[in-house]
Amino acid sequence: MPEKLLFVCLGNICRSPSAENIMNHLIDKANLSETIICDSAGTSSYHIGSPPDRRMAAAAREQGITLKGRARQFKQSDFQEFDLILAMDRENYRNILSLDRGGKYADKVRLMCDFCTRHTEKEVPDPYYGGPEGFNDVIDLLMDACEGLLQYVRDRAIST
Ligand code: 4NP
Repeated sequence: MPEKLLFVCLGNICRSPSAENIMNHLIDKANLSETIICDSAGTSSYHIGSPPDRRMAAAAREQGITLKGRARQFKQSDFQEFDLILAMDRENYRNILSLDRGGKYADKVRLMCDFCTRHTEKEVPDPYYGGPEGFNDVIDLLMDACEGLLQYVRDRAIST
């Protein structure tokens, strides 16, 4: 059974689609696309159906990553569907856990920055209302987190 990862932010047009597509890029390079499957979602309904933010897409493209996908909202069944749910910031984390009424799935929900090895940030900052540099910083931070996450998923697959 493939390992299924879900990346979650607020709007699903900036951070989580970047995380999903960076992760897919690393997964492809590692020849693991049959083994690890990625998706992304937003806790809000603000941008359902929208493509990734064009400023975010431009920053990703500079690093050779094309942002694909359309925004969708996080839903209850995602708790069953996915093995790991990666929240971009603490607010996303709290909002996801508030939907897990029985507290059954808390172990699946993690903060994305827990997997960073080079950066010390604890959250992926929301770039939406900031300047262009914020988008580059998000890509840089997510590259680090995704590399750490890939290593974590590989180690976990070996030990189970
Ligand atoms: P994201 O960024 O959560 O990284 O997709 C945002 C996108 C839209 C809004 C906020 C954050 N918004 O308020 O519309």
